[in-house]
Amino acid sequence: MSGATQPDTSKPDLPQRCDVVVLLSGTGGNLQAMIDRFQDGSCPARIRAVISNRADAYGLERAKHAGIDTRVLDHTAYEGREAFDAALVELIDSFSPKLVVLAGFMRILTPGFVRHYHGRLLNIHPSLLPLYKGLHTHQRAIEAGDTAHGCSVHFVTEELDGGPLVVQAVVSVELHDTPATLAQRVHAREHLIYPLAIHWFAEGRLALGKEGVTLDGQPLGPRGHLIPATQPGSSL
Ligand code: GAR
Repeated sequence: MSGATQPDTSKPDLPQRCDVVVLLSGTGGNLQAMIDRFQDGSCPARIRAVISNRADAYGLERAKHAGIDTRVLDHTAYEGREAFDAALVELIDSFSPKLVVLAGFMRILTPGFVRHYHGRLLNIHPSLLPLYKGLHTHQRAIEAGDTAHGCSVHFVTEELDGGPLVVQAVVSVELHDTPATLAQRVHAREHLIYPLAIHWFAEGRLALGKEGVTLDGQPLGPRGHLIPATQPGSSL
């Protein structure tokens, strides 16, 4: 009789592991949220590597602390965007990820890069897109007198901050908010919705097709899945 362990065929098939490469340039709060969310193994997503264009990005320290491979690819060492993005593609693909996520990666990506990862490149942005693409989103929302602000996860296309939406979380703007206080509450919601979107993708539930973004085979609306603002004191 052989002592080899046989696979347990009585259990339903577990979803295949989904390797993820994270690109960042800064603090890595969103990376930390992913690390925390995926550490219990209940989600098939595994952060395979973290790549930064800045050697001093604190997100790299968070990754190392969690035992994740890190790489630095300094954009200033390249002649231009095309050359940097080509090297970045080569580096990312050396980890064979199923999904690439931008988590505060402050670089404009070339069309070739975006096309290469079509349908498997996600970004998070600190506004209720299509409002306030670009920078200083919290300040712009306050200056406009908005009562609702928030954050969005979307598939990346060639249009900056313009790809199809996956999920948005709404945050109420309070009378005495400053950009800093508002940012803090938006970040807390980012840390909820980004791991959620990655979890959906990793389980094969989220896709970008000809009919737009689908979740469990059903098209999501133009704003994606919408998470309303919570009442003060709520745990969500
Ligand atoms: C996040 O607020 C993210 O939405 C934003 O950068 C911050 C990164 O924070 N991204 C963009 O503005 C992209 N257009 P983190 O380093 O703590 O995750």
